[in-house]
Amino acid sequence: MEYLEFRNVGKAFPGVVALDGVSFTARAGKVVALLGENGAGKSTLLKILSADIKADTGKVVLSGKELSFSSTAQAINAGISVIYQERQLIPAMSVMENVFIGELPVKNGLVDFNRLFLDTKAIIDKFGLPIDPEATVMSLPVAYQQMVEIMKAYRRDCLVIAFDEPTAPLTDTEIDILFNIIRQLKEAGKIIIYVSHRIREIFQITDEIAVLKDGRLVKTLTTPETDQQELISAMVGRDIGDTYASLDRNGEPGSVVLEVDNLCTDAVDNVSFTLRAGEIVGFAGLVGAGRTEVARAIFGADRILSGEIRLGGGSVRFKTPRDAIKAGIALCPEDRKEQGLVLWASIRDNICMPVLHKLKKLIFLDGAAQDRLTQAAVEKYSIRTPSLWKRALELSGGNQQKVILGRWTSDEVATRVLILDEPTKGIDIGTKAEIYQLVCDFAKRGVGVIFISSELTEVINVADRIIVMHNGHITGEVARQDATEEKVLSLAMLS
Ligand SMILES: Nc1ncnc2c1ncn2[C@@H]1O[C@H](COP(=O)(O)OP(=O)(O)OP(=O)(O)O)[C@@H](O)[C@H]1O
Ligand SMILES: [Mg+2]
Repeated sequence: MEYLEFRNVGKAFPGVVALDGVSFTARAGKVVALLGENGAGKSTLLKILSADIKADTGKVVLSGKELSFSSTAQAINAGISVIYQERQLIPAMSVMENVFIGELPVKNGLVDFNRLFLDTKAIIDKFGLPIDPEATVMSLPVAYQQMVEIMKAYRRDCLVIAFDEPTAPLTDTEIDILFNIIRQLKEAGKIIIYVSHRIREIFQITDEIAVLKDGRLVKTLTTPETDQQELISAMVGRDIGDTYASLDRNGEPGSVVLEVDNLCTDAVDNVSFTLRAGEIVGFAGLVGAGRTEVARAIFGADRILSGEIRLGGGSVRFKTPRDAIKAGIALCPEDRKEQGLVLWASIRDNICMPVLHKLKKLIFLDGAAQDRLTQAAVEKYSIRTPSLWKRALELSGGNQQKVILGRWTSDEVATRVLILDEPTKGIDIGTKAEIYQLVCDFAKRGVGVIFISSELTEVINVADRIIVMHNGHITGEVARQDATEEKVLSLAMLS
C-alpha cells in the first residue's frame, strides 16, 4: 500500500527551531490530522513536503522512494499537492483553464475548448458542485475557489493532498461540501494530510492525529480512540477546562455608546442596531452576509449611502479610518495580510503603529516605551517569537493574527468601540480561550465590543447578544441565554 513517511525531519530558522526530528507515516485511504499550537511547525512541515523550503535534516519518503525536489512544480508533477489558504490560482482565468493549466487539451494546434469544458464538467459533477466551468475564478466565492484547487489536484491525479487550514474562510455549509470531497478522495485511496485548529473537524474527518508541540512530534493517536480532552492536553500541555463557563464576564452593560440607524452601503441595506458600553454584541451570518461591510462602514473604510451613526449620542460620519480611530473606534480586520499587517515591518513596528504619535519624546520616538508595549502584547497573546524585531512575515499564521490583536488592544489605544472581525481565525485552542477572556476584559472596562465570527459556537457563547445577518440585512437577534446553533443558523440562511 502507498504511504508517505516523514523521517527525522528538522528545520531551523534564525532563532527558532521550527521542526525537531519529526517522524510519522500517513497511509493511503486515510486522513491524518496535523495538530498543534500556533508556531508548532505544521505549515513548515507542509512547505517541506511541497518543496517550498528545504529541510535541514531528515527525509520525506513516498512508498519507499525518497523525495527530492528542487521546485514545487516538480513536487506537483510527482503527485504531491499542498493546498494553502493563499490561493495559487489565476483569478482572471476561467475555472476550466485553471483546472487544466499546463495541460490544456489541444486540437489542430489550438486549445480544444469543447473538450476542456466537458472534462472539467465531469470533475465538477463527480464532486457534485454547482460551479460553471466557464466562470472566472475571481467571480467565485472563496469556498469554490478552494474547490477549484482541489479539482486541479484531482485532475493531476495527485496521490498526496495536504490541506493547511482549509476551513478558516469557510462557513458550515461550505465545510460540508469540502468534507464530502475529502471523503471521496479518501475512498479513491489518496494520502490526505489535514491541518486545522478546529477540534470538531478533526473528529469529523480524520482517521489519525499527529500532535506537534514546539517543533516536536509529541503524540500520534487514532481518532476514534481519543477524545477532546486528551487531544487538547497533548497539544497545549495542560488541561484548559470549560472555556466558556469559566469566562469572567461583565455583569451589567452601561449606556448606549454606538447607534446605527438605517445604514445603507453598496453591500448592506437598512442595518440598525445599538451597542452599549461594556457590552459584547456578536455578528453571525454566512460568508458574504455583510458583517464585514457593516464594520467597514462604521470605521470610515466604505462609503455610506444613507443612514446615521451616533457615537456617544453625537452624529458621526467618518471619511477615513484615521478619523474613526481618533474618535475611539478600533477595527481588527478579518484579512490580516491585505488590511492589517505590514509584513516586512517588525512585530514592534506593527504593534506600535497606532500609538506612535503618543510615544514621541521631543522629536524622537521613545524606544523603551515601544519595547514595553510590544513586550506586553507578546506576553498577553503568547506570541511565539525569538525577538520583538522579527518581521511579521516570518511568523506563523496564528501568530500574525495575534500581532494584529495586540496592535488594537494595547492599553495606549483609547478605545470606546472595538470591532473584532474573525479575531480567532487560525488561532490555536489554548490561545482562543485567552482571547475570549481578553474580549470580556474590554467589556468590563466599559468598551463596547462588536464581535464578528463565523464560528457559531464561539459567537453564541462569547457575545451577550447575537445579531444575525443574511444578504446585507439583519434577519434577527438572539440573547446569549436563548441562543442555540440551530436558531442562529436558521436566521443566517433565511432568504
Ligand atoms: N520564513 C520564516 N522565517 C523565519 N521563521 C519562520 C519562517 N517560517 C516559519 N517560521 C517560524 O517557524 C515556527 C513554525 O512556524 P509554522 O508556520 O510552521 O507554525 P504553524 O504550526 O503552522 O502555526 P499556525 O498554527 O500559527 O499556522 C514559528 O516559530 C515561525 O515563526
Ligand atoms: Mg500554519
